[in-house]
Amino acid sequence: MCADMNRAVIFLSVLSLFFSNGTMALENTTAEFDSVGITVSLLNHRENDAFKQRINLAPFNRLNITVRDVPSDIWFIVLQIHTFQYNATLSYDKALLDKVSNRSLFGSNIGLYLKTYGITAPIQVFLKHENVYNLDALLVIITYGRNAPIPGGCNMEFDIKVSPYQKLHAENGMILVDTQPASILFSNGSSISCEKSPIQHKMYRLYLPRQDFTSDTYFDAITRMLTVQDIVQNGDEIPAGTLTSSMRRIYSAYTGTGSVYAMVAIYENYSSAYVPIFTYACSPLLYPESCKVLNDAFSHIICALVLIIGCLSIIIGYKYPSIDHSLPSCMIGGILGYIIALNTGDYSIAINVLIGSTFAILAAAISAVLGVCTWLRNISLGFLCACITYLYAPAWMFYVLEHNWLFWPMFISLILATTILLMTISYVAEIITRAIFGSYFVIVAIDYYTGSNLKYIIITIIRRITIPGFNLAFVYPPFQGAGMSL
Ligand SMILES: *[C@@H]1O[C@H](CO)[C@@H](O)[C@H](O)[C@H]1NC(C)=O
Ligand SMILES: *[C@@H]1O[C@H](CO)[C@@H](O)[C@H](O)[C@H]1NC(C)=O
Ligand SMILES: *[C@@H]1O[C@H](CO)[C@@H](O)[C@H](O)[C@H]1NC(C)=O
Ligand SMILES: *[C@@H]1O[C@H](CO)[C@@H](O)[C@H](O)[C@H]1NC(C)=O
Ligand SMILES: *[C@@H]1O[C@H](CO)[C@@H](O)[C@H](O)[C@H]1NC(C)=O
Ligand SMILES: *[C@@H]1O[C@H](CO)[C@@H](O)[C@H](O)[C@H]1NC(C)=O
Repeated sequence: MCADMNRAVIFLSVLSLFFSNGTMALENTTAEFDSVGITVSLLNHRENDAFKQRINLAPFNRLNITVRDVPSDIWFIVLQIHTFQYNATLSYDKALLDKVSNRSLFGSNIGLYLKTYGITAPIQVFLKHENVYNLDALLVIITYGRNAPIPGGCNMEFDIKVSPYQKLHAENGMILVDTQPASILFSNGSSISCEKSPIQHKMYRLYLPRQDFTSDTYFDAITRMLTVQDIVQNGDEIPAGTLTSSMRRIYSAYTGTGSVYAMVAIYENYSSAYVPIFTYACSPLLYPESCKVLNDAFSHIICALVLIIGCLSIIIGYKYPSIDHSLPSCMIGGILGYIIALNTGDYSIAINVLIGSTFAILAAAISAVLGVCTWLRNISLGFLCACITYLYAPAWMFYVLEHNWLFWPMFISLILATTILLMTISYVAEIITRAIFGSYFVIVAIDYYTGSNLKYIIITIIRRITIPGFNLAFVYPPFQGAGMSL
């Protein structure tokens, strides 16, 4: 280590801070400065407590983290580092900090399992980061008793033997989160066989406010997903699909909306939490543009056009029925064109949107020339209803929706049912269609500028059609004010 590096190092003594199991208080810590690293005392901590400490590391710095005074009823701890935007390395061995190995871990939501019961050697891990900026991080230690399942104890795939962390991978409008099964130590010292493990795993998700990339919001969200009690209280449980491994979850990505994923392992009355993992579904730091869904001048213009058409439809639509009647075919044409564009080649978004709009205009023109087909309009409304139903279907429906052979017949029957229903009440239908399409156009356009999630009504179905494997994704959107006004 560079001797000249001025290391601010802290000794923390943490005294009876806890009011009840799992509740945490971020804490009245006293700090002392010497040159060893951070020493955390777990005196007076009980099972399932969370110790939390914000740390700030100078560029290219390293830190020794030592844990001491571990009460004797604590059998193991999960020591976690959550960094804001930058990556860091956490390692069991000082010598391995510079290598990729099976005893060190690189990332921004990382954590290691440390056995504490009957250990005499100092309990120590090493943190390093190689960013040219200060590293803003949260150090977390969660304590567990002898009966708690060991997160990642039955690891078969990750590099580190016991891997309480999760892996997140974002691609193609999907977010994949992978975890390794937990293990358990019986009181007679034997552990369960990992093949037929009786341990139950549950996955939870928490959304952040959309387009909020501040560190305070980030750390606040992480803090709410650390202990089992907090996770169950703050997160939404996500069902496992029947077509994917029970240790994997796939989500539809909401670009620019942060989300925290947490996993809980439960065995009888005991439970433990994995290291939560986080994503914005884009990189606000490296590619800020990636955090907007459609992000060029061209889509601004399209949206302005859509807004104008929508307003026209609402304001003067009853005077000029032809504008009004071509709106639905315009929308369906647009979506069709966009899907065709996506499937036929690797064009940029702008070209895809252009092809989509060409189709939209063509469809509108055709329906205007051929006169008004009522059924076409009603089918479009049925389509919109089916899309909304898909997006907002309750969690238990996921078991049905993930199967393509069940989903598509249901989707089409729903369109047909809505269409037939509207045919039977054609006068009402006309009013409804006009109101809904007009306002949907207006809302989608406004939505584009304000960034709410309404556009995902259409985006989700487009993803379902164009992205292979998207049927396995959980699509339910974040609840956020503006979105529900449709
Ligand atoms: C922290 O503890 C010190 C003494 O132990 C006390 O004077 C101080 O008021 C406490 N601060 C808070 C925020 O509780
Ligand atoms: C970290 O601890 C090791 C011993 O485990 C010691 O040699 C080293 O100087 C410490 N480094 C820092 C930065 O405190
Ligand atoms: C952090 O690491 C991941 C995976 O290696 C990488 O994709 C990402 O760009 C890194 N982030 C930064 C800020 O370097
Ligand atoms: C970790 O890596 C070392 C050296 O590469 C190897 O000897 C050791 O068996 C590995 N341990 C595990 C658990 O894979
Ligand atoms: C240890 O206990 C568990 C359950 O309490 C039991 O299933 C297992 O067979 C026991 N193992 C040994 C070696 O006694
Ligand atoms: C679990 O808790 C219930 C109620 O607190 C208790 O009756 C039961 O014996 C416990 N089971 C185990 C295996 O400890």
